[in-house]
Amino acid sequence: MTKVAVLGASGQIGQPLSLLLKSSRLVTELRLYDIVHAVGVATDLNHIDTPAKVSGYLPEDNGLEKALTGAELVIIPAGIARKPGMTRDDLFKTNATVIADLLSGVAKFCPTAFVAIITNPVNSTVPIAVEVLKNAGVFNPRKVFGVTTLDVVRASTFVAHTLGEEDPQKFKVPVVGGHSGATILPLFSQSQPPVELTKEQLDAITYRVQFGGDEIVKSKAGAGSATTCMAYAGFRFAQAIIKASKGETGIVEPAYVYLPGVPNGEQIAKTLDVEYFAVPIEFGTEGAVKAFPVGKLSAYEQDLLKTAVRELKGNIAKGEAHVRGGS
Ligand code: NAD
Ligand code: LMR
Repeated sequence: MTKVAVLGASGQIGQPLSLLLKSSRLVTELRLYDIVHAVGVATDLNHIDTPAKVSGYLPEDNGLEKALTGAELVIIPAGIARKPGMTRDDLFKTNATVIADLLSGVAKFCPTAFVAIITNPVNSTVPIAVEVLKNAGVFNPRKVFGVTTLDVVRASTFVAHTLGEEDPQKFKVPVVGGHSGATILPLFSQSQPPVELTKEQLDAITYRVQFGGDEIVKSKAGAGSATTCMAYAGFRFAQAIIKASKGETGIVEPAYVYLPGVPNGEQIAKTLDVEYFAVPIEFGTEGAVKAFPVGKLSAYEQDLLKTAVRELKGNIAKGEAHVRGGS
């Protein structure tokens, strides 16, 4: 797979993410779509001496159709971002419509593409995407993902900082659930290598992973939310999909998915009593080949899981209702 479309490519995530994709030799064609500036962003990136050919499209002259036709992976950071005092759910009103419109385009112009959704609130935008694809009769649950990679990137970073370790990438910490506040569930009890944390450290680090987004929103003081770290995480996720689609095996990244449609996922959904959940996913040439269960949780994590599932169910229902006509 080599043809990648970025929708929302002129934004604060879209631009650095497109830079990373253009820098990669895994990508041969990069289509940038946005309601503003996409042509200029593409011209700028085309001066970089890598093979990927970049083209930019605006809504006029069937830009979305041109950006999507033939695309094999569609990455979506389109929509508005948080300002201080906002929750991710406050973005719903605007971003629900953005995602529904863009997914109608995906259904029409590249129905078999992989879709990676960055746009918040991910807990609800993914169910919206799924409902739109289902209505069009082209939903493949193995190819539609909410991007939660930033949560595992944060868990590795924060545990290394807490323990005074130099290399965060040494720590692999599963993060499951959703992508907002209490729905984000880092599983430090399953860290590899195992880590010993005091109760104070565990409380602090769990909170920091759950509310890491707020830390950046506050620090940027009105200028936006996570962007460059998200571009890094989004590129890591894109690379996983592309490499697996080219036949590389053993690639596992977390993603927020419609569990009943993913191999091994139906049982996980039944056990958790929720249909959408981020779990580690093994990728293959045709998308998700296996969802991994959440595994053995500590008593601390079991408590957090209950809250996460409760909150998540509301977010999912809200997304589904948006398309089914209930909101
Ligand atoms: P931004 O405002 O800088 O960029 C968004 C871009 O989307 C803009 O260029 C805008 O013109 C474009 N856009 C808006 N409506 C569009 C449409 N209908 N079609 C195409 N493009 C459209 O915002 P950002 O900082 O890049 O954040 C983008 C989204 O990513 C936000 O919803 C944010 O909350 C989310 N986000 C998610 C994660 C995650 O972990 N999943 C992390 C960080 C940010
Ligand atoms: C994040 O986790 O940083 C993103 O979801 C952006 C946000 O609004 O917090």
